[in-house]
Amino acid sequence: MRTLLVLGTGGTIAGVQRHGDPSGGYTAAVLGVDALLDGVDVPEGWQVRAHQVVSIDSKDMRWSVWQALASRLAEGLSDEGVAGVVITHGTDTLEETACVLDWLHDQRKPVVLTGAMRPATADDADGPANLRDALSAVQVLSSRGLGGTWVAMNACLWPGSLVRKVHTREVNAFDAGGAQPLARRLPDGVWQPAIQAWQDGPFRAVQAPLWRWFATQARPRVECVSSHADADGWVVRALLSADGAASLKGLVVACTGHGTVQDALADALNEACAQGVQVWRSTRVARGGVLSRADDRWPAAGPLTVAQARVALALHLLGAPQRGCVRAFFDRPEVFKVA
Ligand code: SIN
Repeated sequence: MRTLLVLGTGGTIAGVQRHGDPSGGYTAAVLGVDALLDGVDVPEGWQVRAHQVVSIDSKDMRWSVWQALASRLAEGLSDEGVAGVVITHGTDTLEETACVLDWLHDQRKPVVLTGAMRPATADDADGPANLRDALSAVQVLSSRGLGGTWVAMNACLWPGSLVRKVHTREVNAFDAGGAQPLARRLPDGVWQPAIQAWQDGPFRAVQAPLWRWFATQARPRVECVSSHADADGWVVRALLSADGAASLKGLVVACTGHGTVQDALADALNEACAQGVQVWRSTRVARGGVLSRADDRWPAAGPLTVAQARVALALHLLGAPQRGCVRAFFDRPEVFKVA
């Protein structure tokens, strides 16, 4: 018997509809992970061990919850008998957690996040199928030696730090900023590869996971600002004057297009840099990301969304080397080619 560890964190997948709510509202993060697993097929030859880490609506995700998850992963993944982990999670900040875990992982065993767009008590609940797919993905990934962080949603398996939520209501709510999923699950249950990574083996395994290290680190303050019409740097200067930049360590800019910034905002960002604040550029645009160019004034966040770039910059400021899918995206772009 191989063991699959399932960690619960809450979200709509654990949500319950409110009786008599005419708008069809629900409360997220009500059911425990054991209840979610009830009736979900476990792959043959596998047993499941479940643990509730927290029960939150993921809009309330915070550094300390990531630290609790990291501690659980340190313990679980170092157990020889555990072949991989599934994490049930709210969809609203799933892309941020996936990015953090991808950055800290040693890529040796699979960690698959999943969630749902419909609460568990809805007639059209998508959570059970997503959870079943996540369990089956761990089985298949571990048999192929594909460690790392992945996201199973709506019959697709997405690379951890490339995934993002792109729809507020539909079950088909995730994509990878224009990149293909790793694989798609066919109606007969078989995972069909979509990109080369499926054939090529794991994204480069690295020396040691950073779970235990991360669990001891204080959060550096990194905030997000946006470049838009009338952006004149007022917000940046307000942040700097709040405490003379003593706390502010980093800024991520949601840029226009391929990483451009309104001139007046750029002046304020230069003032921030002069006070020791690191600035990274992401984009307001849904697909394509911001790629580096020789004359960059501020580093480009590559494929990362603004929210992902914020946590990635925090990890960078703490000295954690870039890892996981985002590293592979720069080092081995061929693995993202269509299979
Ligand atoms: C949440 O992110 O916890 C609530 C929304 C969802 O899971 O879809």
